[in-house]
Amino acid sequence: MKKVLAFDVYGTLIDTHGVIEELSSQVGDQARVFSQRWRDRQLEYAFRRGLMGAYADFAQCTREALEYVDRAMGTRLSDHAKDHLMETYTTLPAFPDAADAVARIADSRQVRCVAFSNGSRQAVSKLLEGAGILKHFDDIVSVEEVRRFKPDPAVYAHLRARVEAAANDTWLVSCNPFDVIGAKHAGLHAAWLRRSAEAPFDPWGDEPDLTVSDLDELLDRLS
Ligand code: LAC
Repeated sequence: MKKVLAFDVYGTLIDTHGVIEELSSQVGDQARVFSQRWRDRQLEYAFRRGLMGAYADFAQCTREALEYVDRAMGTRLSDHAKDHLMETYTTLPAFPDAADAVARIADSRQVRCVAFSNGSRQAVSKLLEGAGILKHFDDIVSVEEVRRFKPDPAVYAHLRARVEAAANDTWLVSCNPFDVIGAKHAGLHAAWLRRSAEAPFDPWGDEPDLTVSDLDELLDRLS
């Protein structure tokens, strides 16, 4: 049976810091810090909602995180500016290596590629379409189908059920260490895409099966 590669979306295929240019026109040289805090809060809200059993669309976590960081940093963005930033978030760019590498991986026919995300199916479809890579994916598996967030084991079990593959043939590919550890904990294989050589991995003792520095390296290492 072919391996299934389940690609995380935000932070792995799609660059969440693609909002920095738009943010710069709103908050000047605070844009980089704002973007990082926004992303961190968005994930924290997803984790907290998961623990509380209070699922909401990931876009709601994103919006509420934006409101929070605006308050915390005292940037006083207008509703119009926040709406505009949220719109930018729906058309974030792919990382530079994503288009070619995903095409190469899909064309190799050695594996099946799916997108697997906290984002809704509609949001992910729009992002991947905008980045020109939707056509390389067999399917999109969204956590909305189980109303939990990564790294709840239920979402990885759902991924396996949706792709109808054995745990041993199912690989998560993610830049996010919490996602890699979540997949390993649920019995899947996981490749950590370590885009920055300085990025640390969580010291939990659950190591990735594979660590690659970009997507080009992934297919060579898997085959
Ligand atoms: C996703 C999150 C982890 O795309 O950003 O699932």
